[in-house]
Amino acid sequence: MRIDIISVIPEIFHGPFSNSLIKRAVNKRILNIHIHDLRKYGLGKRKNVDDYPYGGGSGMVIRIEPVYNCFDKLLSERNYDEKIFLTPDGKIFSQENAKQLTKKKNIIILCGRYKGIDQRIRDNLISKEISIGPYILSGGEIAAAVVVESIARLLPGVIHNHDSIKYDTFHKGVNFYAPPIYTRPEIYKGWTVPPILLSGNHRKIKEWIDEKSNKKKLDF
Ligand code: ADE
Repeated sequence: MRIDIISVIPEIFHGPFSNSLIKRAVNKRILNIHIHDLRKYGLGKRKNVDDYPYGGGSGMVIRIEPVYNCFDKLLSERNYDEKIFLTPDGKIFSQENAKQLTKKKNIIILCGRYKGIDQRIRDNLISKEISIGPYILSGGEIAAAVVVESIARLLPGVIHNHDSIKYDTFHKGVNFYAPPIYTRPEIYKGWTVPPILLSGNHRKIKEWIDEKSNKKKLDF
């Protein structure tokens, strides 16, 4: 799978993408990530990518031309299954969406910044608008890293024990939660591990895990 990310602050990705999971996916050539600095496609000597909004108002708006030129270059090289824009007013991203995206071959992710991007980009170049939650970040970069990591860990060969994703929270829908997990020591400051997990009875342990997996968490 190939993911092309377009951003005005590409440096943001250095941290998240050099962590073990995404790095492993890239090193194993399961995932191919290409980050494009939108400024390279900027206008004039100063490589401008933004301008004032028509109709007034505060904040700057990402212009069409740099985005169009970057898209044009990428689209001339290969077909893309999705062209995603990350924005707080997009569709709220879910584990199910992450699974759907693992089926795609080539994806473009465009990160917004400033006040937003010219609406004509959204209307004409974008196939999906995604929000990672109903709150405002300063740009789409952190959201893009979230989306990429959620996809990467689902690609076969990335997580050592691929079967373990069966018990991930949300694996079977929004009301599915990972079971509580424990490790050594058996007792710490009087806090104990549920005896069933120490029983060696695999059938009973599986029943316990299945029961706990569906337990709804309390609200924030
Ligand atoms: N850009 C700013 N806030 C965002 C959010 N919540 N999700 C996706 N992109 C964003």
